[in-house]
Amino acid sequence: MESVESMQLVAMPHIVFGTGTIKQAGQWCAQLGSKALLVTGCGSLHRSGWLDEIISNLGAHGVATTVFAGVKPEPSVNTVQIGRSRLWEAGCDLVVAAGGGSSLDVGKAIGALAGESGDAAEYHRGRQITKPGVPIVAVPTTSGTGSEVTPNAVLIDQERGVKASLRGDGLIPKVAIVDPQLTLTLPPAATAFAGIDAFTQALEGFTSTGANLVTDKFTAEALVHLAGAIRTVYRDGDNLPAREHMSLGSLLAGIGFASSRLGLVHGLAHPVGIISGQPHGRVCGLLLPHVIDFNREAAQEKYAQAARLIGVTNDSDNEAAALALRDWVTELVKELRIGQSLSDLGISKDDVEAMIAPALASSSTKHNPRKVTEPDLRRFLEQIL
Ligand SMILES: [Fe+2]
Repeated sequence: MESVESMQLVAMPHIVFGTGTIKQAGQWCAQLGSKALLVTGCGSLHRSGWLDEIISNLGAHGVATTVFAGVKPEPSVNTVQIGRSRLWEAGCDLVVAAGGGSSLDVGKAIGALAGESGDAAEYHRGRQITKPGVPIVAVPTTSGTGSEVTPNAVLIDQERGVKASLRGDGLIPKVAIVDPQLTLTLPPAATAFAGIDAFTQALEGFTSTGANLVTDKFTAEALVHLAGAIRTVYRDGDNLPAREHMSLGSLLAGIGFASSRLGLVHGLAHPVGIISGQPHGRVCGLLLPHVIDFNREAAQEKYAQAARLIGVTNDSDNEAAALALRDWVTELVKELRIGQSLSDLGISKDDVEAMIAPALASSSTKHNPRKVTEPDLRRFLEQIL
């Protein structure tokens, strides 16, 4: 009998998944607090009617709501700082983060830092969070980031020009309510960007050096759901079963990569995102086929397994199957109108040097299946301009 490998798995929220589960928001929140700060974005939750629905559902269970709206895409530590003041002023004992990845990340950071008095930027720079925050309930309205289950929040510090994760157990939501209905109103481009982010996270989680037999179950299952539904939700956003598969895939990818970590796409996504100002998902989708090529030898077996899992090929030859996966992803990215080269994102040769140090320092890059050296990375970036 073979021995079992050592491994670590991060904590998970209580997860409530399925169409209609948003109706359970009030009952779950009432178990955690009585005054909720509802953190959300720039209006889509309000326009879709879900904001009022959530507030009245919380009210029916005795939970009062203060809304902190206006979280912008690619959010900053300043937004967290302002939101935390709002939480203190209103005396909230709970955060409900409802929206896309940005709203979830800001809500999680506010909740995790609620007990700390230092500036949010200090913790982003690495100061330890030592005091307990307030419980967090995460309600995603996109199927992309998996932020509802992960222990980190991606934030930009404008002053330092750094995009990085705030990480800690206090950022893990107590409850994640994943209701695919909430993603129905997401427009096609945002659906494509969120979906390819989720797919990238599933694949990077599956091929990461931190992957283990448990995370592989989650990321492999995620790949199947995401690959099977991504084209359908892009073309037909009203297709609820397809939305359900995307939401489940994104959730499963999040559970997997929270423990396994990611790879070079995500290591580069932060500097490319800062320089281009483009949405995270678009950046990830654009980089993915190139990174598969970069890693193809080092991760050949895993790529081949992924290709067979999602039905791209049944070729038993790993080299051929890994190549088939690269080709399938390339075609998908084209269909989703994501772009093919860094110049499609407005990045030029002059930007290459500035991306190298942050990409090499990223923990995602450190978990890439092929070791990434500085000369390799420079060559890679120049090739994909
Ligand atoms: Fe991502």
